Amino acid sequence: MFYLLFVLFAIVLSSPSDALSTKMTKNLKVLVSSNDYPESGLEVLKEHFTVLQSRYLHFGKEGEDSKEELLNLIPGCSALVWSSHYPISKELLDKAGPQLKVVATVSAGYNHANVPELKARGIKLSNTPNVLSSAVAEIAVALILGAARRFTENLAQVRSGQWEIGFTKTLGQDIRGSTVGIIGLGGIGQATVKRLSGFEVGKFVYTGHREKPEAKALNAEFTSLDNLLAQSDFIVLAVPLTNETHHMINATTLGKMKKNAIVINVGRGDVVDQDALYDALKNNQIYAAGLDVVTPEPLPKDHKLLSLPNVFVLPHIGSATLRTRSDMAVLAAENVVNALTGKPLLTPVLP
Ligand code: DGY
Repeated sequence: MFYLLFVLFAIVLSSPSDALSTKMTKNLKVLVSSNDYPESGLEVLKEHFTVLQSRYLHFGKEGEDSKEELLNLIPGCSALVWSSHYPISKELLDKAGPQLKVVATVSAGYNHANVPELKARGIKLSNTPNVLSSAVAEIAVALILGAARRFTENLAQVRSGQWEIGFTKTLGQDIRGSTVGIIGLGGIGQATVKRLSGFEVGKFVYTGHREKPEAKALNAEFTSLDNLLAQSDFIVLAVPLTNETHHMINATTLGKMKKNAIVINVGRGDVVDQDALYDALKNNQIYAAGLDVVTPEPLPKDHKLLSLPNVFVLPHIGSATLRTRSDMAVLAAENVVNALTGKPLLTPVLP
């Protein structure tokens, strides 16, 4: 009874102030950068703020219109929700004005977010890690299977109607008994190991700045980059793009890999020097590559990488499931709510 009274009292006390604070935040304008931002995120934003949204996608022919639209909409906005991988320009931040408090990317990666410029201006930045780890890990597994079992060549055979028939036709590689090396055992790297653990992998190794406490339960062994490159049958790149990781897979590191190595990239295209990767694949110096991220995106259809039979490429769909994209949108929106109501960001990059 006492508890019930307490709860009623708390509701009575809290409601007016919530209503009041919502009323106050309604004056604040939040800009959403693309017309494909999920409804679930919009609902959260609209509950608290006046939401402006670009009529355009960020990609394709609408690029220029989209840019103009954002430059027109941003003056006076307190928050910017950025749901593409296009770079956030200084010009856009200049147009925004000094009341811009927070930028929320709807992505785990934030290499496109112009961190130095946001930092210099004291603008907070959030991203959406963790909620997408499972979805991206599923794509890492798909790429492993696609590259190891030569989906590109096999699909070409199906499409052309020219199947190679024979007991030793288009043979691939087993995951069973292999060594899988993860570069970057963060959320996505860990989720990838979990998903692969049913595949009878022989050994998981990983490298990064330091040993991860989670690795023990995953039976993953910490090692140096060189050791990982020398041992692994599958090398999964699950690192963000930074100055340190830019082109970390290059002619030298490719040269340290086994001849049957398969490189999987779910990080960012620029983690790999694509010219060096092309040469290594073309000369069969390594076995194959599976890429969900490339440079540029979209990759032109006549790009030399796409001429290779031993490359399996997907169009950056790591987090592209209904549920995950919705979760990302809601998390980005909640970060904005927190930033504009004096609470800490849930997933801060610049707190
Ligand atoms: C991210 O969020 O950084 C992913 O690359 C999206 O797919």
